[in-house]
Amino acid sequence: MLIARTLPDLRAALTGDIGFVPTMGALHEGHLALIAAAKRAGGKVAASIFVNPKQFGPNEDFSRYPRTEASDLEKLAAAGCHVVWLPDVATMYPDDAATMITLEGPALRWEGAVRPGHFAGVATVVAKLFGQVRPTRAYFGEKDFQQVQVIRRMVADLLLPVEVIAIPTVRETDGLALSSRNRFLSAEDRAKAPALFAALQAAATSIRGGADITETLAKACHYLMNSGLVPDYFSLVDAGSLEPLQAFTHPARILAAAKLGPVRLLDNIAV
Ligand code: PAJ
Repeated sequence: MLIARTLPDLRAALTGDIGFVPTMGALHEGHLALIAAAKRAGGKVAASIFVNPKQFGPNEDFSRYPRTEASDLEKLAAAGCHVVWLPDVATMYPDDAATMITLEGPALRWEGAVRPGHFAGVATVVAKLFGQVRPTRAYFGEKDFQQVQVIRRMVADLLLPVEVIAIPTVRETDGLALSSRNRFLSAEDRAKAPALFAALQAAATSIRGGADITETLAKACHYLMNSGLVPDYFSLVDAGSLEPLQAFTHPARILAAAKLGPVRLLDNIAV
């Protein structure tokens, strides 16, 4: 596995058909599922690790975001990744940089409303990473469903020559979606955390069965609060635009975020 820390090294390592997995490191089986999907498609597999300062708000956890480079590199090598791109902040954001991507549509609500500027930071760094790596395909996790829709919209609007592929969420056996931030859950909170996916599954089943949407979503929020989680949102949306749905139309998704101790859990389910 080639480890590139400068753009000339990266460009020398990458030509031809490339499947790309952008990450912020602290890798787990969810990230490795994206690598495995990229491997199955053939071609070279490139991953990046960059904790992107522009997607963290001033009161968020940029400085304490887990950084585990040595074990990340071991996992990527074992997974058969060909090239790892490890840019520094000066490479991604030179002092004279003057361009940021602004977003509307699927970026406005949900995480976009709770975390102003977050998706502008995500879109800008992903566009830059695409320019550096020049992948044929790029892999993103459905765990961050809104992020996938934001990237799809950006790729379509900016006519970027890359195919965006979404990979299903990898979960613990109790249903909790794997996340680099789960390590910050206390044992007590970890025991409460599966309530989020349980609520999503119950609500999806009810809505599919024709239950009243408003009542079902309210019931799910009560269940979360009774389980010790504080919901930020729990909403049925159109799976493309991410606009809230008053009536069930296909394809739909329930998007949810809830606070649990120092962690915000994020999850979603197809309906
Ligand atoms: P990060 O949180 O490291 O996630 C990297 C990729 O792994 C994302 O596409 C994310 O959706 C996916 N992922 C995370 N947990 C997953 C799980 N349990 N199952 C499946 N996929 C999972 O998302 C980012 O980094 C950043 O915003 C990034 C796109 C790299 C831009 O900075």
